[in-house]
Amino acid sequence: MTFASVSDLPAVLFVPGNKPDLFDKALAGGPPAIVIDLEDAVAPDAKNQARTHVHAWFAAKKPRSAFAGVRLNSAMNRFGIADLHRFCDGSARPDFYVLPKVESATEVLQVHRLSQGVPLICIIESALGLRHAFDIAQAAPSVAALGFGAADLSADLRATMDWEPMLVARSLVVQAAAAAGVGALDVPYLNLRDESGLEAECRRAKALGFTGKFSIHPRHVAGILDAFLPSEQEAARAAAILKAADDAQGHVVAFEGRMIDEAILRSARRIVTLAKAREGHA
Ligand code: GLV
Ligand code: MG
Repeated sequence: MTFASVSDLPAVLFVPGNKPDLFDKALAGGPPAIVIDLEDAVAPDAKNQARTHVHAWFAAKKPRSAFAGVRLNSAMNRFGIADLHRFCDGSARPDFYVLPKVESATEVLQVHRLSQGVPLICIIESALGLRHAFDIAQAAPSVAALGFGAADLSADLRATMDWEPMLVARSLVVQAAAAAGVGALDVPYLNLRDESGLEAECRRAKALGFTGKFSIHPRHVAGILDAFLPSEQEAARAAAILKAADDAQGHVVAFEGRMIDEAILRSARRIVTLAKAREGHA
């Protein structure tokens, strides 16, 4: 699997920042991307040590088989400031940063200026973040995707994390990401043993417009890829639509009884690009 950019990633696997023995192991499992977490996976009194491990791992500049990023702490608290201070001198360059609890475009711009163009995935997970999601997605050229953080958001909204209470917020995150032309990554599925629940949630998130999903367990990555990447059948159908339009040379043409318009062509092009990425030819 080869993805051209962070905005195309269909699955991003979390790895705890305080478990350095898992960093290489997580990559070896073959996910398209891992994100090493310095935020919620690491207790306050373990942050300094985890930061040192994570920084050293990236500074070693070992060749990597997939995208690898870091979830920093919020740029609005002392842990996040310390993370930025450690990482932004350029001595280690992750492929992307995940910024949690983003609530304003100014905050993103500040990180953008400090982080030398490293792509950013901004997680929307508060009521204020939701209100500013469109501005956040467009705050800086390095914003590659928005993430949806249902756990923190549900607590902030005094709601439950179920599909219906989160639906409007999920949709808003997709809309903000689409308006900015960046990716949209859904929250990890938290029930590790419920494969059919994972499949159902992936299907719904994809139908809503998410381009991928975070994962907290390697076991979930394959299911997420299956849901978000086109099947062979879908890829063949999309290729046939493009060929029919090509053969028509600008004339009106129908496919399976429906006129091929620009909207259908856009979706077909996206499917063909994703299918190529799955095969490793991005
Ligand atoms: C992710 O960070 C979440 O809060 O769901
Ligand atoms: Mg969170």
